[in-house]
Amino acid sequence: MTLHVVPSSVASPAVVVTNLRRAYGKRVVIDNLNLRIERGEFVALLGESGCGKTTLLRALAGLDPIDGGRIVAPRRPAVVFQEHRLLPWDSLWRNVSLGLQVKDPRERAAAALAEVGLGDRLDDWPRNLSGGQAQRVALARALVQQPELLLLDEPFAALDALTRIRMHDLVRELVANHRPGVLLVTHDVDEAIALADRILVMREGRIAFEHRTKRDGAGRIARSELLAELGVVASHHTA
Ligand SMILES: Nc1ncnc2c1ncn2[C@@H]1O[C@H](COP(=O)(O)OP(=O)(O)O)[C@@H](O)[C@H]1O
Ligand SMILES: [Mg+2]
Repeated sequence: MTLHVVPSSVASPAVVVTNLRRAYGKRVVIDNLNLRIERGEFVALLGESGCGKTTLLRALAGLDPIDGGRIVAPRRPAVVFQEHRLLPWDSLWRNVSLGLQVKDPRERAAAALAEVGLGDRLDDWPRNLSGGQAQRVALARALVQQPELLLLDEPFAALDALTRIRMHDLVRELVANHRPGVLLVTHDVDEAIALADRILVMREGRIAFEHRTKRDGAGRIARSELLAELGVVASHHTA
């Protein structure tokens, strides 16, 4: 196995993946995958459960080794998972500033928490948060690092529909302000259409389909096309 993530330089894309291969034993999950995300670009990744989305994201984050190819990415991409992964014994501001090498961690955490609407909860504890609030803290913890690459692995999947819509608005706003390259893994076609500049479908270990929502237009054509790519037959509306 080769390790792993080559640091990118200042003016480069957020991430470039070339001929990536990743296997668990003999089982090849990612095979000859190519991907490039620009800074400020919002990319959504769809694909059937088990097709390798999380495996790809963990490789990009430098959390796992790879078996072939090359990843050029920032040294510390920020990651948000489906579970918030906050430390229960640390206050919210300490959770947000964990690992941050600055003189004023509390101030930085306060600013990040204010950005996600929790500026009055610095000294509160993870156990007192709703699911949506905990994911907002996880987003604050990701953004406090000013990442060039933000990796989101189904971060809203466990939230109720209304909270999810609020989170979409928040993420859109945060990304517009910070301009990282974003890779959002989701199983929700509508979420992908609502948020992404570009939608990818992963299949058989590689990127099998690409749709540029900004260039090609969002809406119903994209939706039915995407559902077909995912192997789901789109229902026919009579509108
Ligand atoms: N640590 C692991 N060891 C062995 N197999 C794994 C491991 N993690 C994931 N897999 C397998 O790799 C495939 C892709 O998994 P994953 O990347 O989690 O898919 P997705 O996120 O698209 O649902 C699945 O078949 C899964 O069972
Ligand atoms: Mg997954």
